[in-house]
Amino acid sequence: MLKEYAMQTDIDVVVCEVGLRDGLQSIEQFFPTEDKIAWMRAEAAAGMPAIEVTSFVPPKLIPQFMDAEEMVEAALTIAGLQVAALIPNLKGAERGVSLGVHTLNFAVSVSRTHNLKNVRRAREESIEDFTRIVSVVQAQEPGRRPRLVAGLGTALGCSYEGPIAVDEVVKCAVALAEAGAEELIICDTVGYADPALVKKVFTAVRSAVGSLPLGAHFHDTRGLGLANVTAALECGVRRFDASLAGLGGCQFAPGATGNIVMDDLCFLLDSMGLRTGIDLEKLVAVRQIIARNLPQVPLYGGLARSGLPRNYVPAARRAT
Ligand code: COA
Ligand code: ZN
Repeated sequence: MLKEYAMQTDIDVVVCEVGLRDGLQSIEQFFPTEDKIAWMRAEAAAGMPAIEVTSFVPPKLIPQFMDAEEMVEAALTIAGLQVAALIPNLKGAERGVSLGVHTLNFAVSVSRTHNLKNVRRAREESIEDFTRIVSVVQAQEPGRRPRLVAGLGTALGCSYEGPIAVDEVVKCAVALAEAGAEELIICDTVGYADPALVKKVFTAVRSAVGSLPLGAHFHDTRGLGLANVTAALECGVRRFDASLAGLGGCQFAPGATGNIVMDDLCFLLDSMGLRTGIDLEKLVAVRQIIARNLPQVPLYGGLARSGLPRNYVPAARRAT
């Protein structure tokens, strides 16, 4: 059982839906707020334990997230759901704290070029900003302190810089851990990773940060996303981001396509006997909300295309 999801004793791996943030951030057409809420409610009803429901960025920069406050308020009414939001800076953290978000995912990139393009400051300045965010969070009443997660973007490659040195990832991970991150997420923002690199990077970070929880965030740009998940599982990772139907990409990182497909990730884990708490058929049905709103956007996924194998027995029933 994972410590941070102590209520959920029947879960072996925690997955977090990031489609409402990563999936929508590069889509200009505004996804109506009521349908975003319907999406998150339906996914929570299918058993999704955690959803990154929005991004606290300037609405002028990404109008898709102009409804951030409304999204968080609606998400907080869903019983048992871990409500997460992305933050690029202190101002984003303040918005999240005031609303009572459960988890703040701070974005910083290991690639210096990507950090500059993405959040318009040097990597070191982002890490200093994170230190200020930790102080703001720690100044809150205990019941109102969000979990602070640091996402290390472009940790497995960058479309500006190419390969990223493992030492640089470790250096960033240690700085964020020392600053007060409660969890680190290693992100393959542009989909450059392969299973061998995943093992190298996760093993190096693990040995540098001790028992700090480590999550993985993969994009399926070159079709290696689920292979990378199995490599991360072998390194002990039990927390994965993904996006329903494989939406996703960062508009400040050229060449990045969608996140790994949430439905296929859940099927992979379940078929390996790892319980996610998710009802696969209910999860696949949620795709209709996306398809209805984004008819021009390609949706991916083998499970949705082919259905469950005949007489498939979910991991939760197999285990007993
Ligand atoms: N939420 C809302 N408004 C914010 C904000 C936030 N998190 N951060 C800054 N602002 C506002 C400021 O108050 C200021 O407003 P004003 O013009 O009315 O005075 C304006 O935005 C500019 O602020 P500044 O601090 O100068 O920001 P910037 O222009 O240097 O941009 C970021 C920095 C981090 C805000 C911006 O680059 C960003 O949001 N990047 C994230 C990109 C992203 O989402 N990438 C994909 C996910 S990894
Ligand atoms: Zn991403």
